[in-house]
Parts: sequence; structure tokens; C-alpha cells
Amino acid sequence: MIIAKTKYELNEALGQISLSPGKLALVPTMGNLHQGHLSLVKLAKLNSSKTITTIFVNPLQFGKNDDFDNYPRTIEQDIKKLNDENCDILFLPKSRNEMFPDETEIQLIKSGSLGKELCGKLRPDHFDGVLTVVHRMFNIIKPDIAVFGAKDYQQQILIRNMSKSYFPNLNILTAPIVRSNNGLALSSRNNYLSNEELDLASNLFKCLKKSVDLYQLGESIEVIIKTAKEFLISINLVPDYYEIRDELLSPIFNSDQVGKKVILGSLKIGNTRIIDNIEFNS
Ligand code: PAJ
Repeated sequence: MIIAKTKYELNEALGQISLSPGKLALVPTMGNLHQGHLSLVKLAKLNSSKTITTIFVNPLQFGKNDDFDNYPRTIEQDIKKLNDENCDILFLPKSRNEMFPDETEIQLIKSGSLGKELCGKLRPDHFDGVLTVVHRMFNIIKPDIAVFGAKDYQQQILIRNMSKSYFPNLNILTAPIVRSNNGLALSSRNNYLSNEELDLASNLFKCLKKSVDLYQLGESIEVIIKTAKEFLISINLVPDYYEIRDELLSPIFNSDQVGKKVILGSLKIGNTRIIDNIEFNS
């Protein structure tokens, strides 16, 4: 695997792989890689001839009270995991300047009204920061394919929307959520939780599954949401949001609306935010 730490090294590496024909797939990450991230690399490899993974803890998407400084950084282990997956290039910008050079004005990408809902309500400007860095990655790497996880459902919808406007030929793939045995979605932030808290957190997925069952039984959205919130509160998990939306994240108001849907939930355990979602058809 070629490791590029500067824009110059990145261009050299991209030049080298462009000598052989085929599609280039990009997997953007913030590192501390787990099986969820690696499933994206696997999907990228299945759909392309060369894969580039990026590891960049993007300051633009962290708020004042977020965990930017303490975000887990485990570069040596990450490199080993990517080598084992036969990733072709790792872009590991050595400083913020490699992504956003001082002399270049940052092209801020706005996430619009959807970026202010759900997770965006809790983290103002977060999605503008995500879209800005992903847009920049797309511009400097120019991949044919980019892979994101369904774990961050709202993020991948916003990236798809942004990409349609700026990169119409780019093919965005979404990889399913990878979970641990107890159902908890893998996340770098799970590192902040004790074993007891990890068990407690797995109730969010159990609750999402129960909500789908109730929906299929014809229960009203109001009752489904109320039942879910009451269950979570009864075990001391206070949801930040818990909503049923259509697949593009427009609100839905009654349970006889047919088509693909998603239930999304977020809650905090101590200072750690857990998000999860479940997609279903009705
Ligand atoms: P990060 O949290 O490192 O996640 C990188 C990618 O891995 C995202 O597309 C995310 O949805 C996916 N992912 C994380 N956990 C997953 C799981 N359990 N199953 C499947 N996929 C999973 O998301 C970001 O970084 C950043 O916002 C980024 C897009 C890199 C922009 O900075």
C-alpha cells in the first residue's frame, strides 16, 4: 500500500495507479478503523480495480464541545488493517493544510435544511463540515466510486444530494451497518463506553427492531414513537431523537404510506452519543 501524507505524494500515487486501466474507489474515514470501516474497503474493492482510503480527523465537522482533540487516533493499527485488506493507497494528510491550504479559500458546502434536522439539530454546522471535506476529497482524488456506511444514514443521504449537484458521474455506494454480537452498531466512539454501557447501548437496536415489528402490525406512528421512547427512558436511556422517515428522510405522517422507510434514533450515554437506524419496507 502506498501511503501519501501530502497532496504532492497523493498526486504521485494517483498518477502511478492511473497507468493501469480501471475504476478508482474512495473510502473516506477518520481512522480508528474497525470492521465497519473495513467492510467499506471490501465493498470498494469488489466494485473497482483500485481503492484509496483516507484517514483525516476533519476539524470542520466538530463543534466547540465535541471530541476533536480526544478523537481516537490509532494510525499504526489502521495501516496494518488496511494493508491486510490490500488497500492500494492510504491518503493520510499530515496536517490540516494538506486538505485546506491557507492560500486556497475553503469552498464551504452547505447542507441545507436537512442538515439542520435529526443529528444536525444536535450538532449545528456538523454536516456543512462533513460535506465540505468530502467535496474537497472528491475534487482532489477524482474517484469513480465512493463508499459510505448506512450507519451514518443522514450523512450518506446528504453526501448523495451534494454529489448529484457537483459530481454527477460519481457512483456512491452505501454499505450495510456492521454490528457487534449484541446488535450494537460498531463505532469508534464505542471505545468511550464501559462493558456495562456497551450492553446498555445495544438496547437502541433492540428498540428499533421492535418499532419495525409494531409498524408491520399496523400500529400508528405516534404510538410506535411513544412506546420506543418510554422503553428507552425506562432503562435510563434518554433519546435525543427517535423518528420514522421515508428513505430520503422526508417526514412521514401515517403508517399506511407504502415504500422504503427508516427509523433513526440517537441517545447519549454519559458524554458519548450513540446513533443507529434500521431500514425496512412496507
Ligand atoms: P467515520 O466515522 O470514520 O466513518 C467512516 C465511514 O465508515 C462512514 O461512511 C461511516 O458511515 C462508516 N461506518 C462507520 N461505522 C460503521 C458500521 N458500523 N457499519 C458500516 N459502516 C460504518 O463518517 C465519517 O468518518 C466522516 O464524517 C467522513 C465521511 C470521513 C468525513 O469526515
